Parts: sequence; structure tokens; C-alpha cells
Amino acid sequence: MRVIEAIRKRRSYRSLKPFEVSEGLIFDLAESASLAPSCNNNQPWRFVFVTNRKKLEGILEVMPKGNQWAKNAGMIVAVFSKKDMDCVLEDNRDYFLFDVGLAAAFLVLRATELGLVAHTIAGYDPVKVKEILNIPQDMVLIALVIVGKHSRVTSPLLSEKQIKAELERPERLPFQKFAYINSYSSEVIEETQ
Ligand SMILES: Cc1cc2nc3c(=O)[nH]c(=O)nc-3n(C[C@H](O)[C@H](O)[C@H](O)COP(=O)(O)O)c2cc1C
Repeated sequence: MRVIEAIRKRRSYRSLKPFEVSEGLIFDLAESASLAPSCNNNQPWRFVFVTNRKKLEGILEVMPKGNQWAKNAGMIVAVFSKKDMDCVLEDNRDYFLFDVGLAAAFLVLRATELGLVAHTIAGYDPVKVKEILNIPQDMVLIALVIVGKHSRVTSPLLSEKQIKAELERPERLPFQKFAYINSYSSEVIEETQ
């Protein structure tokens, strides 16, 4: 699969069916993440690949109602780091979140290429998830990536909005609202004919 195909195919689906996670899959996803660039090659990303049923259930218990669809995940990947594990440069350039985001994106795209859903979430109790996974409390649990197989049967746990997002990709900003050529302008430039 070409990179552009994986980028276009990736979706944060919520209707999942469980699947058997192999150790090979974990190594494969970890390799893709590890090949991401990072400031000074600091590689500030850390992951816990969670496949243990009891732990998955424990994590589900500390997620809000809106994320209960994750119960059909085959695996949850905890993504964490700490500010001092990466470059801290002048003008507020703390690079750890940026670099971990790059690595997580590589992981998500590789999972997509392998025919899996890899849905990033921020809705969970970070203190409790860190406890469950033995992650030190001074680390930042940046995100969880819910990994599953896409089910064509819409999950009964979804809200109206979530069902809509299942059917069509949530809208993106048009080019003019987020990209500039040669110089930034805070004014919204109308599309020229
Ligand atoms: C940092 C981050 C946090 C997110 N948190 C949640 C979440 O808690 N629950 C959820 O269902 N989706 C969550 N999402 C998924 C977004 O809602 C989704 O990416 C967005 O609506 C665009 O849809 P798409 O990924 O299918 O293109 C999150 C995504 C990111 C990157």
C-alpha cells in the first residue's frame, strides 16, 4: 500500500470486532514507530502494548461512557513520555509531544496498512490507567491507541454523532483555513476563482 493510500484509508472507526494479537504484530508496530524522526534522535516515545483481558477491562472501567465502544479492542497501546526525555529549546519549543506524535502516527499508519483500525483517544483517567499499567505517575500518558478490526455492524454503544462519523469522515478545514504560501495571514483568504 502506498503511503497516500494509508493516509486516506485511516479512519477513527468505533465499531470494532476483536482479533487475536500476535507478538509479531507488536514488534511490527513498534518498529514503525521507532523509525520516526526525533529531535537529536532522542526517541522519547514509550509504549505499553496491552493485550491482557483483565488489564483491557480495567482500562475500560476508567473511560467515560463516550469511549465504551473500545470494549471490542484486541489491543490498547498506551503512549507516554516526559518533557525531559527530549529537546527543550527556547521560545516554548518542548519537543516531546511533537516527536511522540510523529511516532504514534507512524504506528497508526502501519496498523492501517495491515488492515486494522488504530483509533487514538484522549478520553480516559490518566492517573488510573498509569496505575494499571505500572507507568510512573510523573510520565505524561499522552494517548491510548485502540486497535481492533473494523466491524461493518454499527456498535450499539455509539451516540448519533459517533454513528455519523462512522459513515462519513468528519469534515476537514479547507486549505485556505490552515495553510499559507510564503507568509502567514490571520485573515481568511477567500478562494480565488
Ligand atoms: C489526540 C486525540 C484524541 C482523541 N480522543 C478521542 C476520544 O477520546 N474518543 C473518541 O471517540 N475519539 C477520539 N479521537 C478521534 C477523533 O475524534 C477523530 O480523529 C476525528 O474526529 C477525525 O476523524 P477521523 O480520524 O476518522 O478522520 C481523538 C483523536 C486524537 C488525535
